[in-house]
Amino acid sequence: MLDGRRILLIISGGIAAYKSLDLIRRLRERGAEVRCILTAGGAQFVTPLAVSTLAGGRVFQEIFSLTDEAEIGHITLARDCDLVVVAPATANLLAKMAGGLADDLASTALLATDRPILMAPAMNVRMWTHPATQANLATLAARGVRRVGPNAGPLAEGESGMGRMAEVPEILEAVTAALGGGRLAGRRVLVTSGPTIEPIDPVRFIANRSSGKQGHAIAAALAALGAEVTLISGPVHLADPPGCRVVRVETAAEMLAAAQAALPAEVAVCAAAVADWRVENYAAAKRKKEPGAPPPVISLAANPDILATLSAAGPQRPRLAVGFAAETENVVEHAAAKRVRKGCDWIVANDVSPGSGTFGGESNTVHLLTAEGTEDWPHLPKAEVARRLADRIAAALETAR
Ligand code: PMT
Repeated sequence: MLDGRRILLIISGGIAAYKSLDLIRRLRERGAEVRCILTAGGAQFVTPLAVSTLAGGRVFQEIFSLTDEAEIGHITLARDCDLVVVAPATANLLAKMAGGLADDLASTALLATDRPILMAPAMNVRMWTHPATQANLATLAARGVRRVGPNAGPLAEGESGMGRMAEVPEILEAVTAALGGGRLAGRRVLVTSGPTIEPIDPVRFIANRSSGKQGHAIAAALAALGAEVTLISGPVHLADPPGCRVVRVETAAEMLAAAQAALPAEVAVCAAAVADWRVENYAAAKRKKEPGAPPPVISLAANPDILATLSAAGPQRPRLAVGFAAETENVVEHAAAKRVRKGCDWIVANDVSPGSGTFGGESNTVHLLTAEGTEDWPHLPKAEVARRLADRIAAALETAR
């Protein structure tokens, strides 16, 4: 509930602005007071009349408006709230925020505010992945600006990829969490994600096909519910998920050490594809390909099992240990055996056979195995799998309270 909380909503110019109309309604339904700034770009997509009707008050558009300044100065507008929400946040507005520009009412309010800021980016996939946008995001994250989304999926221009604005329920969760609420507020959670890589020599390594998309989405979904998330990630090409403390590692041994350092945690979700073996005869110098010499023999040693280690009984065992099972045959059967063998509470099983599209893809078909039985979830975007899992985790902790 957001009773009496005051939100300043900035709507900038993107097609996702239509979702912001529903956001206003849902915020007010939860008891929040919503004031809106509509940029010139935003007004190309939604009308001031629609915004003001839904917000139940006037919409602010101009920085040099005598009427607005007489009623409420733009500096007061920027500060007379509990949270500033920017939805959609275009690439242009992100760049202005990062660069400290103040050339319209929205950017001026963002520069002048002393309130927390939550942004919901929305843009084309190439704009999202552009190094300039990623650098701007890193700058804003370092300043404590919160973020929800974007999600992957079909985009307005017929392309597909990262860039869709988060859905309204996700933004509502992020608003609640930003205001110190959320179903997982105050809960410490650790998530592992991505592959680990095991060096053969200083140049070469053994790796696997995990992209980190599923694990990172889970970390973001848990953070959106207010959890204090430590995300331990192998090498991936993904932006840090919003609201998470990210620890970067390469090998399984480093991942285990980081996971243990993140304890105590109430929940551990091990979504990383950890290498089961490391190279025992690691060569400190590059192995040379000598003419006529046989190829080198690489011998392997077993890596520690992070999930099993975290799940072992002890004072620091998370109350809920959730593993994943990546299988290519008899998915549920193998996952059930893994749940027992590794001692975790739940296992999320997925098929990673060639053709499944699970590794690196945007969607996943999972089965949730608990002591009570197995649930078959439909084929869903990874972000939705993550949200459902985060909901289940929150419900499990609430029941166990
Ligand atoms: O990253 P994406 O491209 O989005 O793909 C997602 C995914 C397929 C990687 C993910 O959904 C998934 O299945 N992750 C687990 C991959 C894996 O290593 O599964 P496994 O069945 O080999 O391991 C079982 C469990 O033990 C996993 O929770 C794993 O993190 C854990 N494990 C495994 C080995 C080890 N040494 N330590 C571990 O903790």
